[in-house]
Amino acid sequence: MSEEQQAAVKPAAPAPAQSTYKKGIVRTLKGLVIKIQFDEDMPDLNEMLYVDNENKSPLLVSALSHGDMAVCLNIGGDYSIQKGDKVTRSGHSLEIPVGEEMIGRVWDAMGRPIDGKPQLDQAVLDKMIKRPIFSPNFQETGLTNRPDEVLDTGLKVLDFFTPFVKGRKIGIVGGAGVGKTVLTMEIINNVAEGSGAISMFAGIGERIREGHELYKTLGDNDLLKTTAMFFGQMNENPVQRSLIGLAAITLAEYFRDDLKKDVLLFADNMYRYIQAKNEVSTIVDQTPAEGGYQPTVFSDVKTFQDRLATNVNGSITALQTIYVPADDLSDPAVQMISHELDSTIVLSRAVAAQGIRPAVDILASKSSLLTPEVVGERHYSLATRATAILQKYESLKGIIAIIGESELSAEDRDDYNKAKALIEFFKQRFNVMEKVTGVPGEHMTREQTLDGVEEIIGKADGSPAEPKAAEGKPAPAGEPAKPAAEAEAEQKPADAPASDKPEEPAARAEKTPEKQEPAKQDK
Ligand SMILES: Nc1ncnc2c1ncn2[C@@H]1O[C@H](COP(=O)(O)OP(=O)(O)O)[C@@H](O)[C@H]1O
Ligand SMILES: [Mg+2]
Repeated sequence: MSEEQQAAVKPAAPAPAQSTYKKGIVRTLKGLVIKIQFDEDMPDLNEMLYVDNENKSPLLVSALSHGDMAVCLNIGGDYSIQKGDKVTRSGHSLEIPVGEEMIGRVWDAMGRPIDGKPQLDQAVLDKMIKRPIFSPNFQETGLTNRPDEVLDTGLKVLDFFTPFVKGRKIGIVGGAGVGKTVLTMEIINNVAEGSGAISMFAGIGERIREGHELYKTLGDNDLLKTTAMFFGQMNENPVQRSLIGLAAITLAEYFRDDLKKDVLLFADNMYRYIQAKNEVSTIVDQTPAEGGYQPTVFSDVKTFQDRLATNVNGSITALQTIYVPADDLSDPAVQMISHELDSTIVLSRAVAAQGIRPAVDILASKSSLLTPEVVGERHYSLATRATAILQKYESLKGIIAIIGESELSAEDRDDYNKAKALIEFFKQRFNVMEKVTGVPGEHMTREQTLDGVEEIIGKADGSPAEPKAAEGKPAPAGEPAKPAAEAEAEQKPADAPASDKPEEPAARAEKTPEKQEPAKQDK
């Protein structure tokens, strides 16, 4: 448990209109740090205080010193506060209202609306439960016996190599501009749509424009009615940015524990949370530790990640983006966050530069969920073999640069070509980019992805896959040829799993394409 959690004030009744506590007095102001002297009734750590001014400026107690001094953070960034101002204790920690009423709206870390629409009616607000954002509401986060349920994202490369499983954590890791946000939007679009699940979105320290775009995308796809958004973007002060994710989790916990729901939580960007905590740490004069990060960086990561949990009530499936400073994956904060993930999707600049979208570095990505127990034998075996072929491709590339492709053995050349076909196959158009590119996105079921891979690399016993009818949306014109889409025949493989319900083939053809060299023995 972090210091923050231990010190968090117990949830209390809302502050009485007339506080009976003795007031404090503003003594020093330095940027966002304000020291307040209390002769009596010292406030608690993480307690909310309000300045007796026109704005009722909110302050958050960050540390206590010298027995009578509360070191506070100017959470609202209100610069009208002056020395000598009186300050009133609220008697409770930073709380937000929780309830269905929060859905469809955009909130700040204090639970104030920032979508330009009015605050909820006071009568509604008064009835709503208030929860402190610092401490988990429900302590029992033990794993349940619920079976792993794979969620399809409709994106081939993700569903195949880094599966999404309900109640688990998935991260999109990469430097600036490699496509983390766009990929997150596509996943929200594909996973939230049709699932009816409640979604939380936390915009942490990223561009404000992206918030507007997300709001619009959700509206266009009729997803606002199931989504609550929290924004503390880069225009906000570091105090807000460091708290916004916790506010989103607090509401997620309410839906999980009180309403027994499965919740999706999207956070863009988790690294910015650590960065904001670092900024706050610097302004309250803490000495940096590891790699220039705050001394509390480990507990900061833990505080957040431990709450993204599944328990007996319901689940929180978390997708988070992780910005990689200077493209350095060994950055300590990136490492700490990555360590918490079940599936890690690495996006790379080198891959993006080749025009591959999503720009997934397949060999750098990993998932502890890619096991026969979770994804099934067929998927597991295909993924293992496809990974081996892609690994071989990497080493063959070096050889080819020196001796040329013609010098490869027949078997190496075959694997080399299979790898190239796989890379081509995993390229995919996004639905959320349709308005930019004018080309519709593709949505593939996991079965279609498995069939597609099998057509390229053959079956485990070395025999070629029976070609299947092309299903789903065909590749748009101009898209590079996808080997899988070329195979069109109305056949089911004998080993098709029971869950594979028959679908009407989009196109039928009698021919059985001889795409694969038959019976090349895999090693
Ligand atoms: N799937 C995609 N298809 C086409 N363009 C993309 C795709 N993903 C990203 N881009 C381009 O890359 C830019 C940066 O992507 P973004 O998701 O904002 O990066 P990040 O969040 O990693 O900084 C986008 O504005 C877009 O132009
Ligand atoms: Mg981004």
